[in-house]
Amino acid sequence: MSESDDKCYISEMKKNVYIHTFGCQMNIHDSEKMLGILEQEGFTETGDPNDAELIIFNTCSIRQKAEQKFYSELGRIKAFKKKRPRVQIAVAGCIAQQEGKNILRKAPHVSFIFGPQNIHALKDFVSGKIVSTALEDNPEIEKTDLPAKRVDGVRAWVTIMYGCNNFCSFCIVPYTRGRERSRPTDKILAEVKELAARGYKEITLLGQNVNSYRSNSNFPELLKILNRVGGIERIRFVTSHPRDLSEELIAVMGDLPRVCEHIHLPLQSGSNKILRLMNRGYSFEEYIQKVSKLRNKIPNISITTDIIAGFPGETDDDHMLTIEALKKIEFDGIFAFKFSPRPGTKAGGMENQLSDGLKSMRLIQILELQDKITEHKNKLLEGTFQEILLEGESEADRKKLTGRTRTNKIVNIPWIEIKKGALISVEITKGRKHSLEGKLLVQDLKGAVDKKGKI
Ligand code: 5AD
Ligand code: SF4
Repeated sequence: MSESDDKCYISEMKKNVYIHTFGCQMNIHDSEKMLGILEQEGFTETGDPNDAELIIFNTCSIRQKAEQKFYSELGRIKAFKKKRPRVQIAVAGCIAQQEGKNILRKAPHVSFIFGPQNIHALKDFVSGKIVSTALEDNPEIEKTDLPAKRVDGVRAWVTIMYGCNNFCSFCIVPYTRGRERSRPTDKILAEVKELAARGYKEITLLGQNVNSYRSNSNFPELLKILNRVGGIERIRFVTSHPRDLSEELIAVMGDLPRVCEHIHLPLQSGSNKILRLMNRGYSFEEYIQKVSKLRNKIPNISITTDIIAGFPGETDDDHMLTIEALKKIEFDGIFAFKFSPRPGTKAGGMENQLSDGLKSMRLIQILELQDKITEHKNKLLEGTFQEILLEGESEADRKKLTGRTRTNKIVNIPWIEIKKGALISVEITKGRKHSLEGKLLVQDLKGAVDKKGKI
């Protein structure tokens, strides 16, 4: 078979796969699922695209920036493919879902495409049976028990539901990931038990709107069931929709010892006019009420949020309402984004789009204010004792170890020989803008030392 013969598929060769993941946690976990399937097909992951026979771009289209990054990578890889025609290039994720076969037409160097709902068919793609899937939402064929290859060893992500029904006017997710589908409770439980047996300590339940999880149990019931799995010390979940955050969930969060004291609760805007235009389904007053209930039930809870700067028609007054909201609520952290018009969404087609300059200015104001709030809140933690789950060496400083509090704050401590995955107690010595510094409390090392007795 010649080098350029496109029918010469990778199954006959040395098999290395390189996955470039763009975007959110959902995509990172989807890449783990792709690796899980590919390992069963004899592939090994490589961190170097030059070593790979299969290169997958797992794309994100939530904002234009992520999309642009992908397209520039796709352009760059064209020359690479020319030199090495046997390398298969795949486009996965939300852009593949959205663009479909257009990608194959626009970029003939792409070998196959598949959306987030068709990961299970990866085996057929690499064997050359198909080059694109029927991209419509098809829960019948969607397999929910894909074997994820998890790299972390301590923290694992578990999908509990797919898709979203909310159609927030700015958001492309309902179009790319389809309607809401919840995984059966017993499948989730089995996966979590297996993770516990493999030594995982923390799970994060993933869904676009976990509060509307409905299967053999609702979401609070699911948490109760998972709270009983021995070995799992911490349970987290993302993302919660403020409209669907129920009293029952708040009660369960407060009562269950393994459910962490953190919630990511996207506000998006402090202006009721903008919230209405966004089709969010709650007012600022309703949001504040939920925050109060959370804080009453779980006094040390950390609350983080998403904010969009410069939604179409946002006036200076609307923007100021968001600024006031940040001051009033004092979030522990935020993700803030410039509004990015997405094709096919209602807000993308709205007339009164703001200039990029104005959006940038508002975004900077939001981020600068929040930086001060976060730093202030982190400073208040100085001198307190926190339980942290050790994740390993700090990437920024190899002389330090890094872990997270139950409230999801990053804590760095001086390096010490101690096993990853240990739950340790630290005293916070410094609160910074984006992290905390701590020192280990030696008397609390029970269970943290490794088998050789070293700490
Ligand atoms: N423009 C800017 N931000 C967006 N988000 C979603 N869609 C857009 C968009 N078109 C943000 C929202 C959401 C987070 C995941 O991404 O804040 O909560
Ligand atoms: Fe997008 Fe809204 Fe669904 Fe979140 S809840 S994924 S922002 S449509």
